[in-house]
Amino acid sequence: MEVLKSPLENFGGELFIDGVSTVKLAEIFGTPLYVISENKIRENYRKMHAAFSKRYGKFRILYSAKANTNISVLKILHSEGAYVDTASAGEVYLASMAGFSSEEILYTGINVGDEELKYVLSRGVMVNLDSMSQLNRLIRLGVPETLSFRINPEHGAGYHKYVVTASKHAKFGMDEASALKAYEIVKAAGVKRFGIHMHIGSGIMDVTPYLKPGERLLKIASKINTKLGISFDFINFGGGMGVPYKPGEKELDLEAFSGKLVELFKRKLDEYSLGKPELWIEPGRFIVAEAGILLTRIKAIKQVFHKKFVGVDAGFNTLIRPAMYGAYHQVVVANKLNEKPTEVYDVVGPICESGDVLAENRLLPKIFEGDLLVVLNAGAYGFSMSSQYNSRLRPAEVLVKSGRYALIREAETFEDLVRKQRVAEWLE
Ligand code: LLP
Repeated sequence: MEVLKSPLENFGGELFIDGVSTVKLAEIFGTPLYVISENKIRENYRKMHAAFSKRYGKFRILYSAKANTNISVLKILHSEGAYVDTASAGEVYLASMAGFSSEEILYTGINVGDEELKYVLSRGVMVNLDSMSQLNRLIRLGVPETLSFRINPEHGAGYHKYVVTASKHAKFGMDEASALKAYEIVKAAGVKRFGIHMHIGSGIMDVTPYLKPGERLLKIASKINTKLGISFDFINFGGGMGVPYKPGEKELDLEAFSGKLVELFKRKLDEYSLGKPELWIEPGRFIVAEAGILLTRIKAIKQVFHKKFVGVDAGFNTLIRPAMYGAYHQVVVANKLNEKPTEVYDVVGPICESGDVLAENRLLPKIFEGDLLVVLNAGAYGFSMSSQYNSRLRPAEVLVKSGRYALIREAETFEDLVRKQRVAEWLE
């Protein structure tokens, strides 16, 4: 039998999420369908917040919106007291729609143009930059009240090379010399509140990879403090805290994680006399991954030579993580949780590419067309990375909470495929 963790439960062989039957949701809303649990989002936020804030009171979680930008998800986190980490003008827009005030939004721009910089300045949000060329353009356009720079602390980590974001070869962040120059420029330009930032990578299950870069970040902060007299309002260690995807994989030990990071933080603040800045982190995955699932209906089953394939209606257009990063997502049969697994299948989608595989070599009960599969841990980087490739429609999203459910995004229709297209006049 499948081992399920909250918010998932087995009622008479049927998968429930936060008190709602997945079989029923698939019937009502169709498939593919993303479903996310409000209680689980709140639980994840609270346990992370509690672990850090009991060790250092001036602590803040900035939910990293790129993991899941649904406005309802953002509203839930806003109501918990989170700030938000945004990666584009679009995310700033969505965060404002969800009720975050400008002082609660941090914008981390990466290689962006004047249009976007003008937009974020007009919204009055906090800005985090990582290059001198962007900085020079920004201050020609205006000066934000709160500014931080992203440092490249030279050592990164992550579950796949595409998500390691700090190293001597990474495109992100600034080295010490450019950071010193940058802070000098913005101090002279009249910035009032300062922060300093790093983000080393994603899907990290242990605190160790944060310690060396964290130490480097604080050392650079101390140099900026002594050379330029800048004192920091916040020091931001970024996101990247991982969750288990494979059955039996251990969870991140939050006590050890927060314990060691806060210990380093306090020790270095003392050593460098940096005062009492706020400690910030920017988790995305940790907050939403385990809260979300993807429901997908079986449309075909076949054996080709020795291999058994289950063809489902979600492909890498719906969930790209397996195709892009070789990521593992557990798959269960929603309506057959009590049946013995007897067959090995590859779960594949409807896209015309061989890479369109959601799960390989999975031992599942005997299944038939019409059965419902559920892809677990799909709350982070699921919908937010979906596309219309093969002109397939993006799916709906549903929020569940203690037995209640609500549609929080409609599925797309054919109209969405042509909405922004124009026909060249000579083809009319
Ligand atoms: N802060 C910054 C500046 C980031 O770039 C990211 C993620 C985060 C925070 C949040 O990282 P998290 O806590 O979620 O690991 N698409 C990939 C993950 C890419 C993450 C990119 N940056 C995936 O599906 O695994």
